[in-house]
Amino acid sequence: MYKTFYSLKRNPFEITPDPSFLFPTRKHNEALAALYYGVRRHKGFVVLTGEVGTGKTLLLRCLLQLLKKNNDVAYAYVFNGRMSPIEFLQYIVGDLGLPAAGKNKSELLLQLASHLISRSQKRLTTVLVVDEAHHLSAEILEEIRLLTNLETTEEKLLQILLVGQPELDEKLDSFELRQLKQRIALRSHLAPLDLNETKGYIERRLHLAGSPNPSTLFPEETVATVYQHSRGIPRLINTICENALIAGYANQAARVTPEIVDTIANDFRLGIHTRPMEASRPAGELNLQKAARTLLELYAHLQDEQSRADEVRTRVRVRVPEHEPYI
Ligand SMILES: Nc1ncnc2c1ncn2[C@@H]1O[C@H](COP(=O)(O)OP(=O)(O)OP(=O)(O)O)[C@@H](O)[C@H]1O
Ligand SMILES: [Mg+2]
Repeated sequence: MYKTFYSLKRNPFEITPDPSFLFPTRKHNEALAALYYGVRRHKGFVVLTGEVGTGKTLLLRCLLQLLKKNNDVAYAYVFNGRMSPIEFLQYIVGDLGLPAAGKNKSELLLQLASHLISRSQKRLTTVLVVDEAHHLSAEILEEIRLLTNLETTEEKLLQILLVGQPELDEKLDSFELRQLKQRIALRSHLAPLDLNETKGYIERRLHLAGSPNPSTLFPEETVATVYQHSRGIPRLINTICENALIAGYANQAARVTPEIVDTIANDFRLGIHTRPMEASRPAGELNLQKAARTLLELYAHLQDEQSRADEVRTRVRVRVPEHEPYI
């Protein structure tokens, strides 16, 4: 409805990740390059993290588009990691086009390994993409670690891309996943946009949607207000701008004003967070939590060692403090 009024050919601020709308900030470029390079050079294991709505899924879609240009890449795409380890393996095997139904774990692994070897012999690349990887359980992350072991003397047979919110970094930092962490070949992080990038982002989307004059429709002070409310998070920028256009049209306003943006942000309760954002979280608090968790994990590990040592009746003694001093 607002499209005709604002001389637009398409919706500029759809929230579905559409590669044709990619605004290549430096961070997005670097992250996409890391994913692409990791796959093409058979680096094995690549991790991309970023706050909610910063463009991770969009980058994956861009990557898959790039990879499809050559016919030598096949991939399994996991977009929901909430499953059991066996379901996870079945899903991957099935998504690679192999029969998976009714197979047990070792049959699935054998089948996968021989498929990967035969593709590698034909110089073909196989990729496992896991989006929303912060939801993966420790058991599935352990399966992934085992999959990183599929390799020849020269290269990894399966390229694995784990993409998720910052909780994924925290999981990978945990003591029991240290083996997986050591296997990461490339790692990148997407940050929200800064003010300049927000301006470029809004203008590019309006331009691609056919706006004859993006900077008149969203003047500088309006962009600054969008930035202030969205904190540079692309999904929030889209929500605010889309609704601001609807409100602008309802008021027959020739341009979107900061007041319209304020009202939208208020309606969407954008100033209210139940979980502190990455940037505003006090560094000390995070470090203390991490330190406490690492200590707990260390103590659990020491306790395991102790019970094992007891079992074989060696004289090894491990002293475990009764109280965890930070909690
Ligand atoms: N660099 C960019 N250029 C153009 N659009 C972008 C960019 N980054 C993000 N977007 C847009 O922002 C919205 C959210 O992006 P996306 O869904 O990829 O975020 P996400 O990081 O995967 O979020 P979540 O953590 O919730 O899965 C989409 O509409 C996407 O097209
Ligand atoms: Mg996503």
